[in-house]
Amino acid sequence: MTKSPARIRKAVFPVAGLGTRFLPATKAMPKEMLTVVDRPVIQHVVDEARAAGIEHFVFVTGRNKGVIEDHFDSQFELERTLQERGKEKELAALLRDLPGAGQTSFTRQQAALGLGHAVWCAREIVGSEPFALLLPDMLHFSSAPCLATMMEAYQELGGNMVAVSPVPDDQTQNYGIVGVDNAQNQVSEIKTMVEKPRPGTAPSNLHITGRYILQPEIFDLLEKQKPGAGNEIQLTDAMLGLLERDDQKFHAVRFGGQLYDCGSKLGFLMANVAYGLSREGLGDGFRRELNKLMSKDI
Ligand code: G1P
Repeated sequence: MTKSPARIRKAVFPVAGLGTRFLPATKAMPKEMLTVVDRPVIQHVVDEARAAGIEHFVFVTGRNKGVIEDHFDSQFELERTLQERGKEKELAALLRDLPGAGQTSFTRQQAALGLGHAVWCAREIVGSEPFALLLPDMLHFSSAPCLATMMEAYQELGGNMVAVSPVPDDQTQNYGIVGVDNAQNQVSEIKTMVEKPRPGTAPSNLHITGRYILQPEIFDLLEKQKPGAGNEIQLTDAMLGLLERDDQKFHAVRFGGQLYDCGSKLGFLMANVAYGLSREGLGDGFRRELNKLMSKDI
């Protein structure tokens, strides 16, 4: 009988980015706290991790990100007030979202040296076990949560995984791109990967969507990783190093849902529309109002 792969208990969330594209909204508030309907973007991503069975949430923060830590803590005065006012539903919802005692960790990326460096900052907290990594800007909207789907594939295959989805050829230069053995398969073996390839040089049009399962050996590679695209320490470059090792497997799992890049204004607005339309008790009214709005010439 083959041994089942080590369980993924921890997830890392890099949340140190400045959010300059959303100024002035992000002048005093982290971009991860912008709301999609009534939940901060980071909460949606933590929800996805929880749905996949994650037990420990590791946030790599930076200056001015203290509100994120408060958001994932209990708020005694608020909870008591809700209780006193008989707002039991609201209180229950708050408590349901709250990670358990000791289930969150926060560390800081002291300088903006790139995604690879941000992930490396989590090494002491993650330790020597495989972990999930979720980039909060990218909302993965689907009835089958993306990380949970990856976990299913991981149970069978182990090793390292990234979620991928196709982009138009003229957009490959904005992402990490993988080359796979069979681009049509739901799960395929990765042969190569490159961060932000020059136009016309991408190995495929499958881009890395921001969901990863990684073995802890990635940290040794990140430690030595030289700056790459944009003069930043790139995670994709270190993953390529891992892929080239004989003892490491790397698979791409196609994400079949809808992606919203909440790092861009258009993606963020579309996420609000999509999540709003699908929300029970809100969607029908929202659709009616949107239809009215769309029929006007504004
Ligand atoms: C990062 C990753 C890239 C990935 C992208 C997904 O890039 O480096 O491989 O495709 O996220 O959003 P960034 O968006 O930070 O430039």
